[in-house]
Amino acid sequence: MIGRLNHVAIAVPDLEAACAQYSGALGAKVGAPQDEPDHGVTVVFIELPNTKIEFLYPLGDDSPINGFLEKNPAGGIHHICYEVDDILAARDKLQAEGARVLGTGEPKIGAHGKPVLFLHPKDFNGCLIELEEV
Ligand code: CO
Repeated sequence: MIGRLNHVAIAVPDLEAACAQYSGALGAKVGAPQDEPDHGVTVVFIELPNTKIEFLYPLGDDSPINGFLEKNPAGGIHHICYEVDDILAARDKLQAEGARVLGTGEPKIGAHGKPVLFLHPKDFNGCLIELEEV
């Protein structure tokens, strides 16, 4: 059911420093920061030949990234995103198999303007999974 790896998201404590490191030392193509107030994050996408890296930086006091950075002050991998063809069919199949969908269970519009859902990390080997309909 899942398709390509769309991106790996890394929570970063210093967005400017992380962008400078990826564009400089790693020589990657780093995009411009985008504020996502609905998700409480500022994101930066880094285009790699086969996938993307998404930097996540807190936006606002109740950002979901604040707690993650408190536990992981140096930053860390926050989630991975798999592509699906039909997000509602994917959700229904996963829920039927006992997986928990975070939030209301209804897709939200993600950073690429496409519908996304998140799956509970405790149901997936400790890894927060984002599904994006492409
Ligand atoms: Co993501």
